[in-house]
Amino acid sequence: MHPQFPFVGVVGTGAMGRGIAQMAAQAGSQVLLYDTQPGAAEAARTALIETWQKLVTKGKLDASVAAAHQERLRVAERLDALAPSDLVIEAIVEKLDVKRALFAELEVLVGPQTVLASNTSSLSVTAIAAGLKQPRRFAGYHFFNPVPLMRVVEVIAGLKTDTVVCQQLADYARQFGHTPVAAQDTPGFIVNHAGRGYGTEALRVLGERVADVATIDRILRDQMGFRLGPFELMDLTALDVSHPVMESIYHQYYEEPRYRPSVITAQRLAGGVVGKKVGEGFYRYDQGAAQVPAEPPVPQVASVPPVWVSPKAARRAEIYQLLKDLGASIETAQSPSAQALILVAPLGLDVTTLAAVERLDATRTVGIDMMLEDAATRRRVLATNPATRPDMRDAAHALFARDGKAVSVVRDSGGFVTQRVVATIVNIAADMCQQGICSPKDLELAVTLGLGYPLGPLAMGDRIGPTNVLEILFNLQTVYGDPRYRPSPWLRRRGALGLSLSHEEA
Ligand SMILES: NC(=O)c1ccc[n+]([C@@H]2O[C@H](COP(=O)([O-])OP(=O)(O)OC[C@H]3O[C@@H](n4cnc5c(N)ncnc54)[C@H](O)[C@@H]3O)[C@@H](O)[C@H]2O)c1
Repeated sequence: MHPQFPFVGVVGTGAMGRGIAQMAAQAGSQVLLYDTQPGAAEAARTALIETWQKLVTKGKLDASVAAAHQERLRVAERLDALAPSDLVIEAIVEKLDVKRALFAELEVLVGPQTVLASNTSSLSVTAIAAGLKQPRRFAGYHFFNPVPLMRVVEVIAGLKTDTVVCQQLADYARQFGHTPVAAQDTPGFIVNHAGRGYGTEALRVLGERVADVATIDRILRDQMGFRLGPFELMDLTALDVSHPVMESIYHQYYEEPRYRPSVITAQRLAGGVVGKKVGEGFYRYDQGAAQVPAEPPVPQVASVPPVWVSPKAARRAEIYQLLKDLGASIETAQSPSAQALILVAPLGLDVTTLAAVERLDATRTVGIDMMLEDAATRRRVLATNPATRPDMRDAAHALFARDGKAVSVVRDSGGFVTQRVVATIVNIAADMCQQGICSPKDLELAVTLGLGYPLGPLAMGDRIGPTNVLEILFNLQTVYGDPRYRPSPWLRRRGALGLSLSHEEA
């Protein structure tokens, strides 16, 4: 293989630098490691050699290939040894002044064609480059942890970056098996920006006491297929990492309500309850295993009243079929009888609003989330309103659990749990496209590879239907009066025109 950059310098050999060095050596480049902390570069080299040896032992790597990688990896005692580099990638401490000082030093050491790149995750690429004589040769090259497993890298153009430089970095990424995605220099770039919706909206759901942590996690895993619930994810990332990122992106976007962090995580961070690594986060951990409260049992009820379904319910025909399959007695008259359980299926509105607007008896009204077809989910979600009678709640719970499918009953919420979380994710992604931060295609790639979502956010929007996502957002705005839910023009226009969210404008 002829690497795009035959000679690569890596400055900063901590968690990220060593992973990046591994990729560079595997791409066939000569790699020089440099770190200001004595022994750190050597320790990184030793660790990488061990990694390759382990792969050889497991039969995943040829011994001669491992030897060649090892041969290409060397340690520099001084920064000026990096002078012959074709590319220098920096992965040092996340401080603007320290990074700027390093690049000022590097710029005069290396040749005029050398590309300079930073692995910064939160600083502005343009701001780091501003101190350089030749900012055109500088770009962001944002890897994810652990680098060898997270096979996506954001290539970030600063205001003055030459497009050829980004092209070369993208080509190089492909040589070591990563997928490059192109991002404009904006807070959070692609992945950390697109990831704002999941946690912040789940925190709002928790903050409104719609459901507890374990229930919210179960719902989002089982209804939408997220691998980890938002609170499991926050526990894994730890709040000392994720809360400051939430705050940073929010403030960098001048308090944009879509990114608003939560007092819940601020307080938990202050109290040191940051996650799995300290044994306590949203869950308690016993020898690394989360202590998840048991699922509430299905109530035993003597009988289930007949069910009347609101004519305005989403997927009404499907609800009827489901009720039939569950053996319910169905009322089809224009209005419910005096003993009927009343079922509504709102998109974005809460159960209370529907009961009031449709003049239903709120004490007998329960909502069911029908955003997705029932067969496509592993859990049904019901919502009560403040007036719902316990016997009606329990009857609905027992009825919808009759076929053994999991059921969660939550308190009233605009858009239950999944609707509002997913609509928030889709809306943020749509607005990223509106701002031209990246192409729709790169957004989908970056999010599926970088965040492990079951679908890219735009594909999620298409799956639900852009018009339905719009309806959910408009209704959320009605229920909460919060500009957080205002739809992005990207979504609004595509929803209005019936276009796919991944449609690229000519
Ligand atoms: N850890 C992550 O998940 C992650 C993900 C993406 C990007 N990043 C970014 O990557 C960079 C490094 O993060 P990390 O987690 O590897 O940090 P780390 O603390 O593990 O490693 C940083 C290394 O840089 C060295 N260093 C500090 N100042 C230096 C200097 N002036 N010159 C040379 N070496 C210096 C330190 O001695 C240390 O070995 C940061 O910019 C961070 O924001 C981190």
